[in-house]
Amino acid sequence: MQVLAFNGSPRKKWNTATLLGKALAGAASQGAATELIHLYDLRFTGCISCFKCKTIGGKSYGRCAVKDDLRPLLKRVEAADALILGSPIYFGTVSGEMRSFKDYTKVLVTRFDQEHKAKRRQEVFSQDCRQAFDLGARLVRQG
Ligand SMILES: Cc1cc2nc3c(=O)[nH]c(=O)nc-3n(C[C@H](O)[C@H](O)[C@H](O)COP(=O)(O)O)c2cc1C
Repeated sequence: MQVLAFNGSPRKKWNTATLLGKALAGAASQGAATELIHLYDLRFTGCISCFKCKTIGGKSYGRCAVKDDLRPLLKRVEAADALILGSPIYFGTVSGEMRSFKDYTKVLVTRFDQEHKAKRRQEVFSQDCRQAFDLGARLVRQG
């Protein structure tokens, strides 16, 4: 069984990547082959509304026609048995390159209480890691 995980954070070693790593470790513990892919390593545009994937009888019907770094990856997505998508929340939604910012502990952002965040990470993150591991293991056990 092949499990691919996608990191939607620009940070390759922080929360999202850590949780995805745990989920993959859980999947691997049940015999799956796993890989973590960082979306911010790839050059891609997202949908450009060309409708080639929707043109009935067209040579790209059902498939994205854009030639970017996602193209070879989409083939692997099709072949994979399971996908795990991980993203930080940026202002109430998932990330995009357009929304990527630097480490906000180094800048003034009144929206967050840094102390509360640090305390919560200390208290809760190890549980999150355990749950992520279990998620990966369950994914593979249940086929
Ligand atoms: C620009 C920005 C906006 C954010 N917006 C939210 C938010 O709306 N809600 C939230 O709970 N966390 C928010 N966060 C916190 C991140 O989602 C959180 O720290 C996440 O774990 C970061 O993931 P990473 O360590 O993989 O980069 C925001 C962080 C940044 C940098």
